[in-house]
Amino acid sequence: MYNSKIIGLGKYLPEHVVTNDDLSKMMDTNDAWIQERTGIKERRWIKEGTDDTSAIMGAKASKMAIERSGLTNDDIDFIVFATMTPDYYFPGCGVQIQEMLGLKNVGAIDIRNQCSGFVYAISVADQFIKTGMYKNILVVGSEYHSNGLDKTTRGRGVTVIFGDGAGACVLSREEDTTKGILSTHLHSEGKYADKLIVESPSIKHWVPQILESEEEDLSYFPYMDGTFVFKHAVVRFSEVIMEGLQKNGLQKEDIDMLIPHQANLRIAQFIQKKFALTDDQVFNNIQKYGNTTAASVIIALTEAWEEGKIKAGDNVVLAAFGSGFTWASAIIKW
Ligand code: ACO
Repeated sequence: MYNSKIIGLGKYLPEHVVTNDDLSKMMDTNDAWIQERTGIKERRWIKEGTDDTSAIMGAKASKMAIERSGLTNDDIDFIVFATMTPDYYFPGCGVQIQEMLGLKNVGAIDIRNQCSGFVYAISVADQFIKTGMYKNILVVGSEYHSNGLDKTTRGRGVTVIFGDGAGACVLSREEDTTKGILSTHLHSEGKYADKLIVESPSIKHWVPQILESEEEDLSYFPYMDGTFVFKHAVVRFSEVIMEGLQKNGLQKEDIDMLIPHQANLRIAQFIQKKFALTDDQVFNNIQKYGNTTAASVIIALTEAWEEGKIKAGDNVVLAAFGSGFTWASAIIKW
C-alpha cells in the first residue's frame, strides 16, 4: 500500500468581480446584510458572452496544477472531477478535461457531492493510488453557479452566497506512508436532501413539465433552508474534523492549517473557536469568492499554499459539509 500526496496545485477564477453593491442593483439586498450574515464582500461570476464553463475553468486550473507538479500531461493516469454544475446533463466534465488537455485516453469520473465534492474526490483518487492502480491523478473541483441562480429578490437568500471558480491538484504516489493523505472520512444523510436542492431538470421533472406548469416553476433554481443547513453544518464539521484527528492520534493543537469549505464565514469562525485555533491556523477566502461549492476547498488550499502558509511537515485538515447532506474531512501530512 502507498500513500498519496499533493504535488501540484492550481486555480482559476473568472475576472468579472460582482460586489454586494452590484447585487443590490438586481435585488433587495445590501452589503451590510451580506457581510454580517456570510462574510462575503464580492464573488466572481462568469461574464455573459465569455467562453468559461465548469469544464473550461477546470481545464485552466488543471493546466496550472500539472505545470506546478513538474509532470507532463502524459504522466496523468486518471481524472476525478467534482462539480454540481456540469456543462452537460451527460457526459460529465471529467471526459471534457481529458479532451481539452489532450490527455491520453485515461479514465475519468465525475463526483456529484456538492460542497463536499472536492474532499470526496481526493478520497476517491487516494484509494486508486493506495492500491497501486494509478500513480498520478488529476483532481478537479469547478463550479459555474451564476448562470443558474435566481437573480431577483425571490432568490436573494441563496444567490448572494454563490460564486464561480475552479481549482485542481495532482495527487501522486508517496512511498512513505507517514506523509501525504493520512486518512479521509466520508458521510451522508439523505433524509435531508430536500433542505438544499436543485430539483430539476431531472428525469422526475423534465423540461416539458417545467414549461407546461401553470404557475411559474422555480424548481430549477437552488432551494436552501439556510438556518437548518447552518445548524447541521456546525455540528457535522466539528464531528468529521474530530474523527480525522482521532484516527491519526492527533489533538486539535496539532492542526497547523484548517481549510474549511467556504460556505459561510460564520460557520468557519464557529469551528475556529470550537477548536481554539488562531487566525494563522485557519484559511478563509470566502470574502473574495463566495461559496464556490466543489471548488472552494481546493481554491482555498491553493491560495494558502501560494501565500506560504503551508510548509513541509504541517498537519493540514480539509473539511466540508453541504447538500445531501454530505460531509467529509481529509488529514494530510504536508
Ligand atoms: N439580503 C437581505 N435580506 C435577506 C437576504 C439578502 N440576501 N436573504 C434573506 N434575507 C432576509 C430573509 O428574507 C429574512 O427576512 P425576514 O426575517 O423578514 O423573514 C431574514 O433576512 C433572515 O433570513 P434567514 O434565511 O433566516 O437568514 P440567516 O441568518 O439564516 O442567513 C444564510 C442566511 C446566510 C443563507 C445562512 O443561513 C447560511 O449560511 N446557511 C448555511 C449555508 C450553507 O452552509 N450551505 C451549505 C453549502 S451550499 C451547498 O452544499 C450547495
